[in-house]
Amino acid sequence: MDIDVVSWLGLALRWLHLITGIAWIGSSFYFVWLDNSLMPPEDKKGGASGELWAVHGGGFYHKKKYNVAPEFMPENLHWFKWEAYFTWISGFLLLSLVYYYGASLYLIDHARMNLTPFQAVFTGLCFIFGGWVFYDELCNSPIGRNNRLFGIIWFAALTAAAYALCHIFSGRGAYIHVGAIIGTVMVANVFMVIIPNQKKVVAALLAGKKPDPQLGISAKQRSLHNNYMTLPVLLIMISNHYPMLYSGAYSWLVLAGLGATAWPIRQFFNLKHKGIVNYWYPVAGVIGIVLVALFVSNGAKPAALSEKVSAADVRMIIRTHCSACHSDTPTHAGIATAPAGVMFDTMDEIRKNAPRIIEQAVAHDAMPLGNETGMTPEERKKLGAGLTAQE
Ligand code: HEC
Repeated sequence: MDIDVVSWLGLALRWLHLITGIAWIGSSFYFVWLDNSLMPPEDKKGGASGELWAVHGGGFYHKKKYNVAPEFMPENLHWFKWEAYFTWISGFLLLSLVYYYGASLYLIDHARMNLTPFQAVFTGLCFIFGGWVFYDELCNSPIGRNNRLFGIIWFAALTAAAYALCHIFSGRGAYIHVGAIIGTVMVANVFMVIIPNQKKVVAALLAGKKPDPQLGISAKQRSLHNNYMTLPVLLIMISNHYPMLYSGAYSWLVLAGLGATAWPIRQFFNLKHKGIVNYWYPVAGVIGIVLVALFVSNGAKPAALSEKVSAADVRMIIRTHCSACHSDTPTHAGIATAPAGVMFDTMDEIRKNAPRIIEQAVAHDAMPLGNETGMTPEERKKLGAGLTAQE
């Protein structure tokens, strides 16, 4: 029996990451909505600052919010933290398995920087943890008190990181690291600030003291930041499947553009929960996405060639650059079965997959992975022309 342990482990981790991620983001979306939808309470007894009635799943719910803390400590208090921690743990393990264990396949692109796997992994970790140190310092500086200025500087810093990473790693390796920086900052906000501050509030209450309001203020600041970082991080996590985003020369700019369009979309929902409906926000978001799409698609069409490219030429290019992996019997180290089930052993298989081949290897240079066979732009053009001629 031959078990492909890496693939099964990858599937298990990806599933866990999705489950915990949904639980975390789901409860976070719920609390943001709840917070924005609260009305002044009818009964302010005990220091209640807001309340909300809701109906769901066959029952009515009556929620009350106590700013900072109630006057007494409830016996059963539910904490929301393990969803966040496990999202990070499963995500980090998945990153390690796919991009670090498989560094030479997925992370390193020799055309961008000639790194050894050790150098690549070390660089990736420096970006992830360095990102948190920078962010945390920025939050604690006077800039942290000005939300708008903070947002602009943090966005610029992430764009600079994307620029650097896109010149160091493969396109998808760079994207996933920007996602990992943001995801790590979000979880560290929960682990290092929000939960410890809540614990201090609880301890003060139990000791019969009045909790320091600053604890609530800085937890609120981090929670607000997480709110705006959620949509970009989700987009980056699925960007892996779209080489059109990450394989162009300006992939860092594409990422920044997409990240920027997430802001008005998030803003629309945040305002809507407060009863302010302004459709200009989603319109701006959609216009932003269309602009990014136009920018990416500009010049992505396979160029026509004057010389005729035969089926034999196509097979030759594919045999040289693709067949080590995409075959019934792959010969490439670390590839047990044809990746994504895509095989190019016969002309029929090549023809059937022509649009996908064009997408991956002609319109973009996502394949061969890390361009490890050194496929040239001329060969890509030739492959595109040859495949179009075979249709
Ligand atoms: C070093 C191994 C390797 C080589 C060489 C390689 N690929 Fe791939 N290919 C992969 C892997 C791994 C995946 C799965 C990617 C993923 O998990 O997202 C893949 C996925 C694909 C897919 C499916 C993408 C999708 O999801 O639709 C296509 C199409 C493809 N490759 C085409 C090519 C072409 C064309 C070449 C040659 C120009 C090539 N590949 C060379 C490893 C390779």
